[in-house]
Parts: sequence; C-alpha cells; structure tokens
Amino acid sequence: MFGKINLAYLALQVRDLARWRRFAADMLGLPAPAINGDGTLALRLDDRAHRFILRQGAADDIDALGWEVSNRKDFDAIVDRAQAAGANPAVGNAALCQARHVERLVQFTGPDGVRNELVMGLGQAGTAFASTLMPGGFRTGAMGLGHAVLSSSDMQQAASFYRDVLGMRLSQELQCAIGPIEIGGVFLHCNPRHHSLALFEMPTRGRMHHVMIEANDMRDVGGAWERAQKLKVPIILTLGQHPEPDGMVSFYGMTPSGFDFEIGAAGQLIDPENFEPITIHVTSDWGHHPTLRAKWNLISAAIVGKFRSGSKVPR
Ligand SMILES: [Fe+2]
Repeated sequence: MFGKINLAYLALQVRDLARWRRFAADMLGLPAPAINGDGTLALRLDDRAHRFILRQGAADDIDALGWEVSNRKDFDAIVDRAQAAGANPAVGNAALCQARHVERLVQFTGPDGVRNELVMGLGQAGTAFASTLMPGGFRTGAMGLGHAVLSSSDMQQAASFYRDVLGMRLSQELQCAIGPIEIGGVFLHCNPRHHSLALFEMPTRGRMHHVMIEANDMRDVGGAWERAQKLKVPIILTLGQHPEPDGMVSFYGMTPSGFDFEIGAAGQLIDPENFEPITIHVTSDWGHHPTLRAKWNLISAAIVGKFRSGSKVPR
C-alpha cells in the first residue's frame, strides 16, 4: 500500500469565510478559490482541484480528512477494514463526488468522531497553479497536501485505527512538557513524507491542532514569515527546525479559525517501508519558541478542558 495513499485534502468547517479568503490569499499566497457544486470553497496548493475545502459553520474545526488511493484494490481493502473496525463506511453519492472533484468516495468515522473520506481520482483544476507570494509552489504530488495534526482523547487508540484501517505506519512518538502541561504525540506516515497525520494528547480548543503546508523553496518560508509579521497574523511558534529525521524548518501561526498553520520547507524524506520509529522528547533542534499567544491558547484550552467531563481533550 505504501506510496499509494496520501492526504489529498482537508475539509474544514470555518466560522468566517470572508476572513479565510483574505488569509488564504494574503498570508498563504493561494490563488482565489473556486466555488464547488455544494457551495464550499476550493483552495488550491497545486494543479489539483483543491487541497482545502472550506464550509461555513460554527465549529471552526476539521470537517473531514480526505485520503486518496490510486487503485481500486487498495480502495476496496481499506473500505473492508473500515467496516471491520466498526467505522460505518458509506458510499458518497454522485453529488458529493462532483463537489469533491473525485471519481469515487467512501466516508467513514474515525476516532474522536472525525470523518474520513477515502477517494480515488481527485481531479485537476482547469489551470496551472501559480502564486506570486509563494513562487516556488508547494511540495505535494504523491505525498499529499502536507500533514494534519489532530488532538485525540486517546492518541494510541486513534493511531491504532489509522494503522489498522489505512495501513499507516509509526514514524515517531513525542513525550514532552510545556510548563506543567504534559504533551504526547504519535506521528504516522503512509508515503515518504515523515508524517501525514499526527495525533496529540494535549489541550486544544477543537480537534484540529495544526495543518502543515510545505514550500518547495526555503525563500518562500522566509517570505511567509515576514508577511505574517506585516499582516499581524498571530505567531504561535517562531522559526525553528524539527529534529532529525524530520528536519523541517518552519514557523507556526494561527488561522482565522483559532487552530494553527505551519509553513515549512526542507522536510527530509524517509523510506516508508523500512523506517525505524523513534521517540523524541524535544520538538525542535533550534527555534520554534512559543509566543505569549501560544501559552495563552494552551492554558485557556487546559482550563476549559478541566470543566468538561469525559474527555482529556476539550472540544
Ligand atoms: Fe507540524
């Protein structure tokens, strides 16, 4: 299965579509969005029809993870495993396939109620991707859009689901603390990108912790870093570099929905078949210093979480 599955798109439910449009254009440097058949906004990172699908809604959180599989045999095997895992796979109808620009789609429910969409044949946009703010473009292709990090009430159980159903494999585990708050993470890969999905146990406002998009050119990360200051986009972690074997140089800011985005470059590739997972205790070799805003977001999510029962992670 390796090399044949990738994180094709993220569907997001966002409260303020107009702010997201400005953020996508002015901060991320993405072309003006198209409107899909179901009214959702289609944001591109490359020549594909979309990599982010924005739907107006109160949650300001993940709507669905879209996974693309390149052949029918793997597609059917994943659907069978989703069925066996009790994830209730359901075939998407023609209208949904058209809105998603895919040939085939099956939805199933993952851990923590997160919807997953398994797709084949994500279509091309009608024009070549071009960005004046990110002239080098984004590193996507068979490695998908980048990575998504979700908070989970039980990250090990959630990781087991994605390993069992999608055939993902363990890249690394994280155990660290920010002040008094313990943080755990499980990072999973499904192609040569170091991780396409990670599950964190840490206080967050919603399920979505951050989404990472990777520039082809380090200069575009520098440009984005300067743009963030100019536009007064809240910075969460300053420029820094994740430890080997990931090695990504990146910074983190806050999206209009309150979860974070990461713009990076130079992430190292792994051999997905033979990679030996490791455990790390620091998130960065240098930089990635948390800002006051980052500390405030963490503490406020932890406080809100304390007043909610039944989950270690606040919703
Ligand atoms: Fe990340």
